[in-house]
Amino acid sequence: MAQAANGAGEPPTEDELSRAGLRLRVDGHVARITISRPERRNAMTGRTWTTLAHIGQTLPEDVRIVVIAGEGDIFSAGIDLNMFTPEGVEGERSLVAGVLDGSADADDIEGHIAELQAGFLWLRRPDIVSVAAVRGHAIGAGFQLALSCDIRILAEDAKFTMKEPALGLVPDLTGTKPLVDIVGVNRAVEICLTARRVEAAEARELGLAELVVPVEELEGAVDDVVAALLATNPEAAAATKALLQQAAGNTLEEQARAERRAQVDRLTSLAKAMGAGA
Ligand code: ACO
Repeated sequence: MAQAANGAGEPPTEDELSRAGLRLRVDGHVARITISRPERRNAMTGRTWTTLAHIGQTLPEDVRIVVIAGEGDIFSAGIDLNMFTPEGVEGERSLVAGVLDGSADADDIEGHIAELQAGFLWLRRPDIVSVAAVRGHAIGAGFQLALSCDIRILAEDAKFTMKEPALGLVPDLTGTKPLVDIVGVNRAVEICLTARRVEAAEARELGLAELVVPVEELEGAVDDVVAALLATNPEAAAATKALLQQAAGNTLEEQARAERRAQVDRLTSLAKAMGAGA
């Protein structure tokens, strides 16, 4: 496995990845993360998300693209439902045991959820483009993981379900904002509160998929998008992503100012590079 190049510590070991139900392959500018617990339909645990955060913190500096997929014919069945039993998942903190025995107060639980959310938040970093390659179900946390990515490429058999409200929970793994940003609050309410499946064709109509392809073409389609993304100047890509991310929260004037500032930085860098090359 590649060494961490950004001074943020060592990347997770193969053993840590395996215990988290993850595989990681870093090849030059591209990191490929696979959710790999096929016997549990790629259900994820707290360790999956803290390890995802660890991957993000220790990603080699020259990685520009992060592709996330599920092992086999499913993206992820969401949270491992055993996380909600008092026994929990072996070696992991149960999400209810502390409430039941009174050992965890609201601050503890919030702090713990923040640690889990860190596994999702880094995928928005401007210096990388995150791509979800989705086959089959992406349920609950799986849907939220796909929502955390910049680009979703779906196989025709893909289906999204926001199952949390049906289980008495709220979606809390950073998925509610991208969902509302993409489909609007009314459609988001309908999708979440009915906990219905959104199939690939509808996902494309709603803007939840950038691309939908036949199952056998998913890998090739992802490779094509990755190649196209890598052909763009890396600094311009990062600056543009940062600009686009702030657009929704800015007025037109603020955004125009942000564009000017970003362009001054770009022009300065390009001019310096020309000067150095002259
Ligand atoms: N947590 C733990 N185990 C799971 C999960 C899960 N989320 N999903 C599937 N498994 C296990 C099953 O218990 C079963 O185990 P077993 O072989 O020991 O009996 C095995 O994976 C296969 O599951 P099946 O249900 O037999 O597989 P199938 O292909 O028929 O269905 C599906 C797949 C649709 C994903 C179904 O398993 C399912 O609905 N799972 C639960 C989804 C869910 O509610 N997730 C939580 C959402 S909320 C959140 O993520 C925060």
